[in-house]
Amino acid sequence: MKFSLNIDHVAFLRNARGEKQPDPITFALMAEQFGVDGIVVHLREDRRHIKEYDVRILREVLTTKLDLEMAAEEEIITIACDVVPDLATIVPEKREELTTEGGLNVIDNLDKIKSAIERLHKHDIPVSLFVEPDFNQIDASAEIGADLIEIHTGNYANAPSEEAMYDELERIRQATKHAKRLGMGVNAGHGLNYLNLRDFITIEDIDEISVGQSVVGKAVFVGLEKALKEMLDIINHR
Ligand code: PXP
Repeated sequence: MKFSLNIDHVAFLRNARGEKQPDPITFALMAEQFGVDGIVVHLREDRRHIKEYDVRILREVLTTKLDLEMAAEEEIITIACDVVPDLATIVPEKREELTTEGGLNVIDNLDKIKSAIERLHKHDIPVSLFVEPDFNQIDASAEIGADLIEIHTGNYANAPSEEAMYDELERIRQATKHAKRLGMGVNAGHGLNYLNLRDFITIEDIDEISVGQSVVGKAVFVGLEKALKEMLDIINHR
C-alpha cells in the first residue's frame, strides 16, 4: 500500500496571514525526503488553501507524484490539462463545506464527469473518481472510463460504534475487490489516522491511501519526519 500526503492544511495555515510561511512546497519536498510516495493537493474553486501557483511549482519540483484533487468544473479542468498532474482525482465540491463531505454521485452526473474524464485523457492524465464504497457508483465509474477510484473512508473513520466501523471496513473491502475485477486501480482516503489505519491496512488490495489532517496535525507537535515515520511504520507493518 502506497502513501500520499495531502498538504492542503499547510497552505491553509500560510494563507491565514497572507504571507509565505509555512510554505507548502518546502513541506512537500521534505515529505518526499521522508519517504512519501506522492503529494496531493486540492485546487478548490474558491482557492481557500492551495493556489494555482502552488500547483504549477509542485509540478516542476516534485520527484514523486502529483495528485490533483479537483471538481469537474470547466476552469479547473483547463488548469489541470495545462499542468498535467500524474493523477487527477475528481471530487464533489461545495463552497460552504469544511472539507470534501462524501463521494461523487457518478450515476446522477454521468455526462458531466464523462466529459471531464475525456478531456483529461486527451492530455494523458489518468483519472480517479472519489466515490463511496458502493457497487453501483463503481460500475458507473468504470463505464465512463475512470482509471481508478478513490474510496471515501469518512464513514469508516467516523463510525459511531466498533460494529459500524467493522461493517464499513467490510463494505470497503468488497468494493475494492469489485473495482479491481473491473480493472480499476483503488485508492482510499478521508479521515484516516494513526489509530484507524491499523485495521484499514488489512485491505491489502488498496493501491494507495491519501492522508492529510492526521499527519499534518501530528507534525505540529513532533515534526514532519517523526509524524511520517510513525505513519509509514503502520502502513509497512513495522
Ligand atoms: N481524499 C480526498 C478526496 C479528500 O478530499 C481528502 C481531504 O482533503 C483526503 C483524501 C484526506 O483527508 P484527511 O485530511 O482527512 O486525511
